[in-house]
Amino acid sequence: MNVVHTLSELRAYIKEARQQGQSIGFVPTMGNLHAGHISLIDQSRQQGCFTVASIFVNPLQFNDPDDLARYPRTLDADAEKLQAADCQLLFAPDVDEMYPEGQDNQSRVSVPGVSEGLCGGSRPGHFDGVATVVTKLFNMVQPDMAFFGQKDYQQVAVIRKMVADLNMPVDVVSVPTARAADGLALSSRNGYLTSEERARAPALNRALRAIFSSLQTSRNLELALAQGDAILADAGLETDYLEVRHADNLQPVLQKTLEQRDQNTGKPLEIVIPGAAFLGKARLIDNIVVDLNPHND
Ligand code: PAJ
Repeated sequence: MNVVHTLSELRAYIKEARQQGQSIGFVPTMGNLHAGHISLIDQSRQQGCFTVASIFVNPLQFNDPDDLARYPRTLDADAEKLQAADCQLLFAPDVDEMYPEGQDNQSRVSVPGVSEGLCGGSRPGHFDGVATVVTKLFNMVQPDMAFFGQKDYQQVAVIRKMVADLNMPVDVVSVPTARAADGLALSSRNGYLTSEERARAPALNRALRAIFSSLQTSRNLELALAQGDAILADAGLETDYLEVRHADNLQPVLQKTLEQRDQNTGKPLEIVIPGAAFLGKARLIDNIVVDLNPHND
């Protein structure tokens, strides 16, 4: 695997791969890599792509300076993991390489609608920062395919809309969430948890699954969300949000929709149940995508 830090070196390697007729697969990351990130590399390799990963802790998407300052930077260990996963090129630029004119002078990309609410509500400006850096990275790498984790469900929705709205010639692939055996979604921020907090952290995934099973039986949105909240509270997690949304467009699912759906016996309703919670120094996020099957009674 080659490791490059500048755009000109990156372009030289990409040009060579293109001349050899290879498709380019791209996995953007902020580093501190775990098995979830590596599953994106695996997907790209399985597609037969010349695989490029990037590691850049993007200041533009952090609304909290402390969060940015303490974000783990582990480039050497990350490079070893990428090498072991057969990644062919790592692009690890510094802030000046990405924002040579300074961050305040940087043109921005803003994706309306799907960026609002959920993580966009809790972290103002976050998705503008994500959309801007991913646009720049796409223009730098010029990938055929780009791989994103379903763990960041709203992020994938933002990227898909951006790619469609701005006619970017990139195929966006979403990859299922990699989890620990107890259900906790793998995340670089899990490293902030003490071992005692780590033991309580799977409550977030349990809460999402409890909301689903409650909805499946009772069809009562308010009750289901209250049950989810109670699971978080019992485990000592502070709810940021728990919601039920349409999986395709991220619009809120209304109580009325749940009831009407059963009356017209039709198809299952595909929903996403996203959640975020604070635990110690970490803010955890997760989601499940499930089918609510019609009640036929
Ligand atoms: P980062 O948090 O490093 O995540 C990089 C990619 O790995 C994202 O697509 C994310 O969804 C995916 N990922 C993280 N945890 C995962 C898990 N448990 N299972 C599967 N995939 C997982 O997301 C970002 O960086 C940044 O916002 C970025 C897109 C790089 C823009 O700066």
